[in-house]
Amino acid sequence: MTDEINEPEDSERREFLGKITGAVAGAGVVTACWPFVRSMYPAADILEGGTSTIKLGDIAPGEMKTVSWQGKPVFILHRTDEQIERMVSSEGSNKDPQSDDQRVQDPGWLVVVGLCTHLGCVPLRHGDGWSCPCHGSEYDNSGRVLKGPAPTNLLVPDYRFDDDDAIIIGEA
Ligand code: FES
Repeated sequence: MTDEINEPEDSERREFLGKITGAVAGAGVVTACWPFVRSMYPAADILEGGTSTIKLGDIAPGEMKTVSWQGKPVFILHRTDEQIERMVSSEGSNKDPQSDDQRVQDPGWLVVVGLCTHLGCVPLRHGDGWSCPCHGSEYDNSGRVLKGPAPTNLLVPDYRFDDDDAIIIGEA
């Protein structure tokens, strides 16, 4: 008797639980797949022709800003006069010899791809340059490798200064 009375309720409950389970599973699939679906769309900077325009006005002397360009971090360092003097008078290391003026268009601004040239980790700002957390490569404020396993200096991307206090990365 009791079973007969409860049967419709059980059936409704099963149906309700089935719908909830289906909805949760569907949401899980969408969530899990979203990065793959998203990765099929080109990044915003690719849609803009592979360039990124960066305003420089909000980067104070001595400060660094990390921006994204073609999926890579780019460090923009607004160098102080003291930092510039030190980099101009230093020859970097003999691993990848370059003078400071070979690496900058304007001495006040260093623009480098923020990927270690050893295995591609993102170096951390450390003292008067960068230090790579995984294998200890160190770079100066010109992005030149000083020590560690990195074979070359940080890459300088194509960029150009725009008229109104900005740079366009990805354009020579
Ligand atoms: S990736 Fe930077 S030292 Fe190895």
